[in-house]
Amino acid sequence: MWRSWMPKILVLYYSRTGNTKKMAEAVAEGAKTVQGVQVEVSYYVSVEELSGYDAVLVGVPTYHHDLTVDIKRLFEEAAEKGVSLKGKIGAAFGSYGWSGEASRLVLEIMRNRFEMDIADASLLAKYAPDQAALDKCRDLGRRVAERLMHGV
Ligand SMILES: Cc1cc2nc3c(=O)[nH]c(=O)nc-3n(C[C@H](O)[C@H](O)[C@H](O)COP(=O)(O)O)c2cc1C
Repeated sequence: MWRSWMPKILVLYYSRTGNTKKMAEAVAEGAKTVQGVQVEVSYYVSVEELSGYDAVLVGVPTYHHDLTVDIKRLFEEAAEKGVSLKGKIGAAFGSYGWSGEASRLVLEIMRNRFEMDIADASLLAKYAPDQAALDKCRDLGRRVAERLMHGV
């Protein structure tokens, strides 16, 4: 089927020691298995660009029981500037050591502040993601892409 609209997925991540980065790459890999979606992986996006995506999947590790400052700042700036993310698909994932609240906080912000459509519970990997965790990441990316393409 020919279509002029190509859904865009952003996999936005922060990672200090590479664990969440590996997860982000697997999420993107899964999303790219679905034809017709455009997938970008980045550790930076401006708030202005953010509204151009149909799905925003955020990878964030937990440091000091909190979100990392870049991601927090992005959401704060988006709220300040009145950027609407309403109805876009949102998901969150990340590596953690013992408590892992960061990705859950991202989901709460997405749902409560921005009224995004949350794809799933947050996806966590303890320290370095193993194959099973990476498979779950690929699966998350693929499911979000399919939902955008086919509404399932
Ligand atoms: C200074 C420091 C603070 C941390 N604080 C937490 C924490 O509060 N809760 C938690 O679950 N993990 C904590 N961790 C563990 C990290 O989340 C874990 O090392 C994770 O794999 C880092 O992911 P990254 O490689 O994507 O940066 C901490 C690690 C460091 C070095």
